[in-house]
Amino acid sequence: MSSAEKAAQALPALENYDLRVLQAIELGMIQHQIVPHDEVLRYSGLNINEIDHRLDNLYQNELIYRERDPYLGYLMNYNGYDLLALNALVKADILEYLGPSIGIGKEADVFEGVTPDNKTVAVKFHRLGRTSFRDTKRKREYLSDRRHTSWQYQSRLAAETEYKALQLMYEAGVNVPEPIYQNRHAIVMQYIEAVQLSEIIELMEPEIFLDDILTNMKKAYKVGVVHSDLSEYNILIDSDTHVWIIDWPQYIPKDHYNAEEILKRDIGNITYYFKRKFGTEMTRTEAIDFVKN
Ligand SMILES: Nc1ncnc2c1ncn2[C@@H]1O[C@H](COP(=O)(O)OP(=O)(O)OP(=O)(O)O)[C@@H](O)[C@H]1O
Ligand SMILES: [Mg+2]
Repeated sequence: MSSAEKAAQALPALENYDLRVLQAIELGMIQHQIVPHDEVLRYSGLNINEIDHRLDNLYQNELIYRERDPYLGYLMNYNGYDLLALNALVKADILEYLGPSIGIGKEADVFEGVTPDNKTVAVKFHRLGRTSFRDTKRKREYLSDRRHTSWQYQSRLAAETEYKALQLMYEAGVNVPEPIYQNRHAIVMQYIEAVQLSEIIELMEPEIFLDDILTNMKKAYKVGVVHSDLSEYNILIDSDTHVWIIDWPQYIPKDHYNAEEILKRDIGNITYYFKRKFGTEMTRTEAIDFVKN
């Protein structure tokens, strides 16, 4: 089971005080690698009799880790972070429940979700610096390496950046999923019923699709944005043969020192893919000319 599914399963059984203790650990992690027991107490504002069985409960639900060395303290893991994000989405009336997984990858997990008015949405959890704590040796190494402790920060930043890109692109008329909401490392967006370009074997008129993709990139470039991870995996095609450009957390502004190179790579990926797979003739240079002018 993925961590978001674990979180979704644990959420209904938790009480407000459990969530308060989990949030106290989240807050404590800004300053501590292992949040000391006393700090959990302080941040949560609960009394000592209340807190210990809450901590046990969170621990049994695998939402936190408990450390005894060098002192008694706690860490939130991805299950816990997912749970806090899900809880916020539910409280904000954005999400009723989490549906099946659409894609579990290295840097993100994407799920279908259902809204209170019964619409399907896509929920994407960003995961950077993810470490499995299955064996204790790895856990020790992880804890002693300060760089890694920012997984929480990195994942939230990726979600914020992608959400901002989606807003910009949506306003600029680029075919992207409509952004709906963002909390912590999670974003909620329009669900696109479509398949990845990489899975499509045959296109009737590939030139039209290529042109459509480049027109979208041109619109993005016009408002100063280069996607920078453009490939057949981040382009979806729906049953009305519309193209959708997804996966924007690494976008860069066109005045970035490296923007030219990255634009070339993005566009080159697409013209090369179309040439190889569908036999189109447009060159990278022609395509870049089209996008920039
Ligand atoms: N809005 C959406 N509607 C429908 N499906 C989506 C949506 N967003 C993403 N997906 C599906 O989830 C997959 C992964 O999404 P995305 O490309 O945004 O994440 P990623 O960072 O590439 O994740 P990974 O590390 O798994 O590659 C997509 O290829 C697509 O199949
Ligand atoms: Mg992707």
